[in-house]
Amino acid sequence: MVTLFNERAEILCDDLEKKEHKVVDMEERFCSVTLDIIGKAVFNYDFGSVTKESPIVKAVYRVLREAEHRSSSFIPYWNLPYADQWMGGQVEFRRDMTMLDDILAELINKAVTTRSEATVEELEERDSSDDPSLLRFLVDMRGEDLSSMVLRDDLMTMLIAGHETTAAMLTWTLFELAKAEPGMFHEIQNEVRTVLKDKDRPDYDDIVKMKKMRYALIEGLRLYPEPPVLIRRARTEDELPQGSSVMKDGIKVLRGTDIFVSTWNLHRSPDLWENPYEFDPTRWERPYKNPKIPGWAGYDPDKVTGLYPNESASDFAFLPFGGGARKCVGDQFAVIEASVTFSVLIKNFDFEFEGSPDDVGMQTGATIHTMNGLKMRPRKVQPDEPLAETGGWWERQHLKRGLSASGRPYHSKQEVENQNRPNKQTPDDPGIPMSN
Ligand code: HEM
Repeated sequence: MVTLFNERAEILCDDLEKKEHKVVDMEERFCSVTLDIIGKAVFNYDFGSVTKESPIVKAVYRVLREAEHRSSSFIPYWNLPYADQWMGGQVEFRRDMTMLDDILAELINKAVTTRSEATVEELEERDSSDDPSLLRFLVDMRGEDLSSMVLRDDLMTMLIAGHETTAAMLTWTLFELAKAEPGMFHEIQNEVRTVLKDKDRPDYDDIVKMKKMRYALIEGLRLYPEPPVLIRRARTEDELPQGSSVMKDGIKVLRGTDIFVSTWNLHRSPDLWENPYEFDPTRWERPYKNPKIPGWAGYDPDKVTGLYPNESASDFAFLPFGGGARKCVGDQFAVIEASVTFSVLIKNFDFEFEGSPDDVGMQTGATIHTMNGLKMRPRKVQPDEPLAETGGWWERQHLKRGLSASGRPYHSKQEVENQNRPNKQTPDDPGIPMSN
């Protein structure tokens, strides 16, 4: 999959190079690249939307908008008698769905006629470079029921769930980095350029090394969670802890209650985050606790075990991919996809807003979109250009809080004395703390 992500990121960069210094809607570009990736990954189908416009891509977008509209509508207007025969949008929706169903049926049939059954273990060992898609995997999996609508529906769910979410993460991260102090963007760009050196394509190990960049992406998801609301229905009576509410005895939930978990509010709660509205990727290196919230363990960077700080590390203050039984199945895919795309992009380009960041605007549906597109002018970074000067911006964010350069508190007197020595020796031995 990393190869697929790299190929698509390169196509994006080739296209941007042709548009250097011109106005480009980066939100649209990210939507196109993630659609192309998910099309290949799920069905082995090339939408080719980065380089051309097609009626299929337009149909996919109209269907997505309608699905979004339905999910937020109080009235199920689409169930009105014969709505799909007389109601403008619904007629178009039926037409689009028929087109997409036909394409999907064709792709499934093609995969079925070339089926080569195997066990899951055998499939995992198989060289799948010519068709790494999920469809191929499911069709070849021994015992899989191929006649069912479930296969078709599952693939469609993947397409919808795995496309605009990742595009939104890329869009808002670039938006925030472009409007932040230049030191922040350049620290992350320098990290990418240092890890990759002359390499054009990052591999998995490179992504692991690009911690600042991954934390910037995850900070993007904190401020702009996709989707911004999760919905649950209580199947049994339950009791929720008090949290930051005034309900000292906890909150009783009756069976059948619908619960809206606003990740937007959760991720921006002043009770759970230091400077909650500030885009600050360095926060993920610092522990954070609030003893005023009974029962909340706080955020502990030592509990980060994978590519991103997940719900366990933050004791469920941060739910970028949900949690529990219905947690996102594509979290690793998305984090690696976004990391490869973003690193290839910022290794090669700087970005400047066309107009002001305020022109971008925001609107919310199933995901958070811009109102007017993310209009930016890309500038090519030449490989021999020196790394930008940042004045140690990243470390300064920790030092000015009296923490070590890695964001951890000092544990001993010796460490504090070392801190006050004028010449620091190691990144964790920073000498005199600097103010911002
Ligand atoms: C940054 C990108 C992504 C974000 C922020 C994201 C977020 C989420 C969240 C919050 C949920 C849980 C919804 C709930 O609890 O009600 C979810 C579910 C899901 N996601 Fe993702 N997702 C992303 C990328 C992907 C990708 C790339 C795929 C597929 C390859 C994917 C497939 C799914 C599926 C199938 C579910 C439903 C799981 C179930 O109900 O059992 N997602 N996603």
